[in-house]
Amino acid sequence: MAKYNKLAGKHIVVIGGSKGIGRGVVEAAIESNARVTLVGSSQQSADSAVSSIKAEYPSAQLVGLGCDLSQPTIDKDLDALLTRAAELTGEIDHIVFTAADNLTLGKLEDITPDAALKAAHMRFLAPVMVGKAAQKHLAGATSGAPGKGKDKSLVLTTGSIASKPNPGWSVIAFFGAGLSGLTRNLALDLSPIRVNAVEPGVVSTGLWDSGFKSLEEREAGLQRMFGHLPVGKAGTVEEVAEAYMYLLRDSNATGEIVQTRGGQLLI
Ligand SMILES: NC(=O)c1ccc[n+]([C@@H]2O[C@H](COP(=O)([O-])OP(=O)(O)OC[C@H]3O[C@@H](n4cnc5c(N)ncnc54)[C@H](OP(=O)(O)O)[C@@H]3O)[C@@H](O)[C@H]2O)c1
Repeated sequence: MAKYNKLAGKHIVVIGGSKGIGRGVVEAAIESNARVTLVGSSQQSADSAVSSIKAEYPSAQLVGLGCDLSQPTIDKDLDALLTRAAELTGEIDHIVFTAADNLTLGKLEDITPDAALKAAHMRFLAPVMVGKAAQKHLAGATSGAPGKGKDKSLVLTTGSIASKPNPGWSVIAFFGAGLSGLTRNLALDLSPIRVNAVEPGVVSTGLWDSGFKSLEEREAGLQRMFGHLPVGKAGTVEEVAEAYMYLLRDSNATGEIVQTRGGQLLI
């Protein structure tokens, strides 16, 4: 019997799965024969992502749902989202959270209280509420030897700014570092549900698009900015998705922050 095909048949909900890193996790989960719920900020964006992924993976067990997490009703919205995901695809085994809005960057003198508090909604409140929702919707986890119980987990997303400061990134650095602490504490609060996080360095996704007019310009711009890294380039979604897959598979990992940063911290 296969011992390492651990995600086959599991139901994985990827919140932020319509684009970027989350979309990579969706595709990696499909290739691992998991059943996947992809969540975008709207039903339209989820449907559009599902149809393009299904063109590549016609037999994928994939459902798309929309949920705008920027609303004050985030607590109820997450509860309704995960209830619907379980109704459509069955009991949830794992939740991956990669959703985020634009980065709040710039000189400290230009940061307004409103801008900092707006950033806090998706980068502080949303992960906390996802932790709360995971406790309810991943119920039924049991600790014990692998194969003896149900392994359930939540994987959050932070970033290398948590470990390495950069001028103009103070607001995001606060949330990034906070997410590392939140991950470790949720691992105790939600036990035996496992809680982990991925800390990517720079990854070529739409998060960087505001500075560039096309995908080609983005790739060239990121190469100019990050070609000096030990790996010689910015990370790709296909690379960093592996860190999420590891954390989903290893039922011995909890409270861990897995880093995939292109050697950024070495220089
Ligand atoms: N890319 C990097 O270099 C990098 C480096 C370190 C850390 N990170 C972190 O990794 C995470 C993912 O980044 P990414 O590069 O994959 O970003 P991305 O390509 O911009 O994708 C963002 C995702 O978040 C979803 N989203 C945005 N606003 C939302 C809302 N109000 N409600 C629900 N979903 C919403 C988007 O959904 P729709 O498309 O449906 O709107 C999309 O699926 C972020 O926390 C980011 O800070 C990224």
